[in-house]
Amino acid sequence: MAPERQGEGIGSRLLAAIEEWLREQGSAALLLETAPGARGFYERHGYRIDERLIDYYREGLDAFRMVKMVKPVEDRGAPAVLPSW
Ligand SMILES: CC(C)(COP(=O)(O)OP(=O)(O)OC[C@H]1O[C@@H](n2cnc3c(N)ncnc32)[C@H](O)[C@@H]1OP(=O)(O)O)[C@@H](O)C(=O)NCCC(=O)NCCS
Repeated sequence: MAPERQGEGIGSRLLAAIEEWLREQGSAALLLETAPGARGFYERHGYRIDERLIDYYREGLDAFRMVKMVKPVEDRGAPAVLPSW
C-alpha cells in the first residue's frame, strides 16, 4: 500500500473481498506469505503463523507463512483432504 494511503482501511477491505470470493469458490482456507512488517495486520484479521521462512527474502529477512480458515467448519461438507501445510 502506498505510504500516504496506509491506515485508510483499503487493505482490510481488499482482504475481506478476497476472503469472500474464496468462500464463494468453495475454498476452505487462505494461505499467504508476508514480510514481518505486515504480520500484525494479518493477525488482526484472524491469520495465524503456520511457518517462519528463514532468510526468505534475503539473508536476515524472514517471511511468515500465515493461514486463516475462511469457511466455517459446518459449511465444509464432506471431509476435506488435509493440505500438506
Ligand atoms: C500492511 C498493509 C498492507 C495494510 O493495509 P492498510 O490499507 O494500511 O490497512 P488498513 O487501513 O485496512 O488497517 C486495518 C487495521 O490494521 C492495522 N494495521 C495496519 N498495518 C498494520 C501492521 N503492519 N501491523 C499491525 N497492525 C496494522 C491498522 O492500524 C488498522 O487498525 P484499526 O482497524 O484498529 O484502525 C499496509 O499498511 C502496508 O502496505 N504496510 C507497509 C508495507 C508492508 O508491510 N507491506 C506488506 C509486505 S508483504
